[in-house]
Amino acid sequence: YWNVDNIVDGLEDYPQIQEAAELLRRNELIAFPTETVYGLGGNGMEDETVEKIYTAKGRPSDNPLILHIADRMQLDELVSEVPPLGEALMEAFWPGPLTLVFPKKSGVAMRASAGLDTVAIRMPDHPLALALIQAARLPIAAPSANLSGRPSPTTAQHVLEDLDGRIAGVLDGGPTGIGVESTVVDITGDVPMILRPGGITAEQIAEITGEVAIDPGILSEEAAPKSPGMKYRHYAPQGQMWLVRGDTIEEMTKSIRNAARRAVEEGKKVGILATKETFREYDGEYTVITCGERRDLISVARRLYYVLRQFDQESVDVIFAETFPEGGVGTAIMNRLTKAAGGHYL
Ligand code: TXA
Ligand code: MG
Repeated sequence: YWNVDNIVDGLEDYPQIQEAAELLRRNELIAFPTETVYGLGGNGMEDETVEKIYTAKGRPSDNPLILHIADRMQLDELVSEVPPLGEALMEAFWPGPLTLVFPKKSGVAMRASAGLDTVAIRMPDHPLALALIQAARLPIAAPSANLSGRPSPTTAQHVLEDLDGRIAGVLDGGPTGIGVESTVVDITGDVPMILRPGGITAEQIAEITGEVAIDPGILSEEAAPKSPGMKYRHYAPQGQMWLVRGDTIEEMTKSIRNAARRAVEEGKKVGILATKETFREYDGEYTVITCGERRDLISVARRLYYVLRQFDQESVDVIFAETFPEGGVGTAIMNRLTKAAGGHYL
């Protein structure tokens, strides 16, 4: 465990970073912060190391990983070509929470790409992540650093809760800023296709590329999603979660109040995912947790996984969650909530 939260300049030279990078070069696993969530990193070029990542997380191994790079030169070792769409999107959003799916160079990163002929790559916008990748001089395969099926970690503490004893170390850079994972975009076709909504919005992408398509599997539990990872039940809290809609905020909070009262009558321990604007509406023997402000959805995304973990700690039997408008970062929030709730709406 290395606390590097307060270091600002010359990160590459710090012994903690050097030590962590050296462990990566020796095919050990290191968790590190990115601007989205903490990643569980390993040498992406070494199939056996990638295998260790799947084992540490308990993750199904047909689900490919993202390779993290620190500069454009690392891209050439991994992709067979850079489509024009890719140039424009990298220019606009790298480093940043945008993962691009490229045509893969044959023979490399077989395990990380789960045998596909495409490879997902991103350049994270976090000084610690960049310094670590630079020092390791390797493309780093890194899924979120949680046990499979648990909410993604937004603090080093979350990482240790899930993975202590299974990894060689964790770099603690404090809480992450964005709080939900990167947007995954397939750029191998004519129109960019969003496979997973995240930190960069569809609107931001459309500003660069004109057109943008969204995989219809993203917000429903029925349609088979194109991104291999989206088909699994993800981000699942231990209590059964119900999403609650309403034509107005008042109707939504009223539905939650009614459902919560009934659940308590049935002897259940009830959690409510609320917001700064609404938490006062839920008077009763409930575990009410505030997840940011409705008028600032970025603040909701930032706290979302922390709040889901909090409900687990409180051992609630059932969670009633407020819902949020689609569009902007709201799409990523609703995607994660829908997955966490297994598609269940009240
Ligand atoms: O923000 C993030 O992206 C975090 C941080 C650590 O960088 N990482 C992350 O990785 O969320 P992971 O493994 O949890 O999610 C990778 C996603 C999965 O949905 C996977 O199916 C998709 O990217 N993916 C990876 N390679 C792909 C490919 N070649 N084609 C389509 N989807 C791919
Ligand atoms: Mg994940």
